[in-house]
Amino acid sequence: MFSKYKKTAPAPKSNAPRSPDPDTAAPTEAEGDAKPEAPRKPLMRANPKPAQVAPKDKEVKRKEKLGEIKLELHKALLDNLNLAALDQASEKDLKAEITAIATEALEDMGVVLNREERTTLTQELYFEVKGLGPLETLLQDDEVNDILVNGPKQIFVERGGRLELTDVTFKDERHLLRIIDKIVSAVGRRVDESNPYVDARLSDGSRFNAMVPPIAVDGSLVSIRKFTQDKLGIEDLVNFGAFSEEMAAYLQAAVSTRLNVIVSGGTGSGKTTSLNALSSFIDDAERILTIEDTAELQLQQTHVGRMESRPPNVEGKGGVSQRDCLKNALRMRPDRIIVGETRGEEVIDMLQAMNTGHDGSMTTIHANNARDAISRLENMVAMAGIEMPLKAVRSQIASAVHLIVQVSRLQDGSRRMVSVTEVTGMEGDVISMQEVFRYQRVGLTPENKIIGHFTATGVRSHFSERFKLWGYDLPPQIFEPVAAQ
Ligand SMILES: Nc1ncnc2c1ncn2[C@@H]1O[C@H](COP(=O)(O)OP(=O)(O)OP(=O)(O)O)[C@@H](O)[C@H]1O
Ligand SMILES: [Mg+2]
Repeated sequence: MFSKYKKTAPAPKSNAPRSPDPDTAAPTEAEGDAKPEAPRKPLMRANPKPAQVAPKDKEVKRKEKLGEIKLELHKALLDNLNLAALDQASEKDLKAEITAIATEALEDMGVVLNREERTTLTQELYFEVKGLGPLETLLQDDEVNDILVNGPKQIFVERGGRLELTDVTFKDERHLLRIIDKIVSAVGRRVDESNPYVDARLSDGSRFNAMVPPIAVDGSLVSIRKFTQDKLGIEDLVNFGAFSEEMAAYLQAAVSTRLNVIVSGGTGSGKTTSLNALSSFIDDAERILTIEDTAELQLQQTHVGRMESRPPNVEGKGGVSQRDCLKNALRMRPDRIIVGETRGEEVIDMLQAMNTGHDGSMTTIHANNARDAISRLENMVAMAGIEMPLKAVRSQIASAVHLIVQVSRLQDGSRRMVSVTEVTGMEGDVISMQEVFRYQRVGLTPENKIIGHFTATGVRSHFSERFKLWGYDLPPQIFEPVAAQ
């Protein structure tokens, strides 16, 4: 349990020199009585430098040359390798084969490479033949979370919450298209001019999305959310400062006592990670059914049934929506239902499930704060074509949703649970809510790191009685605000 309550570190005082106060600074002789010009701080901050890598000219030329050689060698390989036997070949055998064919082709071309260049070339050719070409090194880099390709010459990655431009490139758009094709055909899909975008799950579980020209204007756009084998657990997230131990103890009580929870946040803010971590509080004896567009959740419990929706094929047939899965799930005797992300018509069934005996269900939603999450739910109900007075929709939401957990990726790249809000009921036509915990920002360090701490807001939890009845007697100090120091 989360019994070690730690105090947050005091906010470091800024040592930055202060500009002299214009009212107290003594006038210089030359200025006489005239008011001195206070040194003026520019009103606007300088724009941050655009992301760039600037390899030296020579290096660029060498890379280009190697790229061309690689292309030639790749052709030679395709001509000489027995493609049918590739699947069975071991990495060692294949690399030996590649080296032999490459050495011969290089001799024919009259090109001499040093040892390091030859090793890199063999490795890259191996990735071209067997893997995903230039993307392979990024996929194998454990520090990289996301890979974002904007055309053949620009590949960004997210490392430690920050986006950075890499020096990895594709030879040209055709090369990029070939790799995209390789990825999507491996999962039985197709992407081309008439079918220019695709959303898929790679065999290792990574989430893959691509859009090709002419819809993608400057070359194909690809985004990959890498699958992490060891999803961050509650303890990891507390250690990373994603939320406090007090919040963890509260969330444990909330999930164990079967409150319906919505994790709300922006793109890539850590919604799925938080949902996954929260699910670890579910009792192992319960039957859980998960429904996702791309199966990402990794539940620890033994009794889990996983479902993944499927888009229709090129002829528009065979689609199975999240709503279809959800309707079916309700007939499969679940104790809890977890929907990876509620984004459309399935909202109706989700709310109904939460209201009718599948309490303790959870989902994520794309929204900026708790109030916004509620309006998103209202909009989804309206878009699903349900003719219901707004008040009726709201009262259904108010009784279905108990807790909204807001996660956010802050400007310094850190991901935090910025607010935990309880839905307490209806007051007239409005859904009433109370914030129980929040992340209090107090400033910025000179390195632009956010200074702040988690604090309770001081309100008594609406669910205290329920927690107590279920045996979760949370100590009152959990709900005491932490003073800024
Ligand atoms: N608190 C955290 N600290 C560090 N990394 C985190 C944290 N939370 C999430 N991540 C990492 O950030 C990435 C995005 O997280 P996640 O997939 O949970 O976001 P999401 O909000 O579900 O994104 P999307 O909107 O694309 O579905 C993942 O690689 C995850 O491992
Ligand atoms: Mg997600």
